[in-house]
Amino acid sequence: MNTEPITTEHIVRTFVEYYEDRGHHRVTGSSLLPPPGDPVLFTTSGMHPLTPYLEGRPHPLGRRLVNVQRCLRTTDLDEVGDTTHLTVFEMLGTWSLGDYEGPQSLGWGYGLLTEGLGVDPGLLHATVFGGDERTGLDTGSLEVWERLGVPVELTLDDNWWSNGPTGPCGPDSEIFLWTGDTPPESTPTRDDRWVEVWNHVMMRHRRLDDGSLVPLPQRNVDTGLGLERLASLLQGRPSVFECDVFDPWRRLLPPLWPLDESSLRLVHDHLRSAVVVIGDGVRPGNTGRGYVLRRLVRRVLTVLWRDDPSRELGDLPGELVRHTLDHFRQDTDPEEVVRVLCDEERRFRGLLERGRRVLSRPRFQGPLDEEDFHYLHDTHGLPRDLVRDLRSR
Ligand code: SER
Repeated sequence: MNTEPITTEHIVRTFVEYYEDRGHHRVTGSSLLPPPGDPVLFTTSGMHPLTPYLEGRPHPLGRRLVNVQRCLRTTDLDEVGDTTHLTVFEMLGTWSLGDYEGPQSLGWGYGLLTEGLGVDPGLLHATVFGGDERTGLDTGSLEVWERLGVPVELTLDDNWWSNGPTGPCGPDSEIFLWTGDTPPESTPTRDDRWVEVWNHVMMRHRRLDDGSLVPLPQRNVDTGLGLERLASLLQGRPSVFECDVFDPWRRLLPPLWPLDESSLRLVHDHLRSAVVVIGDGVRPGNTGRGYVLRRLVRRVLTVLWRDDPSRELGDLPGELVRHTLDHFRQDTDPEEVVRVLCDEERRFRGLLERGRRVLSRPRFQGPLDEEDFHYLHDTHGLPRDLVRDLRSR
């Protein structure tokens, strides 16, 4: 067993080397911005940029791939502050593009977790697709886990992975790690002390518009493992916000801006995400990616100004910006990042002042109708969310 400390850097290195030793090539480039022509604003999973290759296009690096992909999920924006959701996170992934099959992938996954990363095999549980009228029980996965002595729970919907109503999909087998203080008990669907760490998708079907399944041109395996979640578990920390990537944030921000724990999580998450998004070339705007960035920064400011309106993003320690850009291997100038944040802060402060002035007029004292919202937006540049926010204070 390895004796290096389980830092996220160590997990990434161990993961990538383990798969390189088994013939995988590392995909380079992991921007949050999807390739041109992709309708989605940000990359949301490790497999996302590989979709054409899962559908049969030959990949220039071959049929075995490994990657560390930064991802952004805006669907989780309102969940930030709980213990497992981050807006920007990294996903470790492996792919067999029509090469080896699911049982091999699960065997390697088990080997990496137990031998490579030192996880006690007695703390693992797996789930496997139990079979329905279209596709049967995933016997290949079941046999692997039985051979390895890992308990299995069979499910249906929880073990079928798809990216949307149509497109590539297939049965999956998920690996869970026990996080309770007692010896492991129960099963993943019945006890949430079992936390999912790694999903192996046997991606060999495509769902058509009419709901039917057809085989993909090749039988793939697509796996994804959330880095910060695994790191916090291996480091024995109670939430993703306490894994080592947040150590500098926890050291430097609370003395500057004392906040309660859930506000601190939001500020850490959103500021770190904003730095990465700016690092990938996005600038605040009223639509698309720019609007996501704007929302991140404005949510931070709303929280910071609740207790003390004099707080300024210009006070953000440069070390945090540099640490984040370095971690994500981005070469943007840290001063440029701070400039973008401060410009957005100035704009938001101006907007709030104007908003307060306009909303204090007698016309806006009662309930607002659609016409009022349109007027406030079109004449004064005050978005509906901001108006609601200002009136609720
Ligand atoms: N596609 C699967 C996921 O996103 C595994 O990469 O969880």
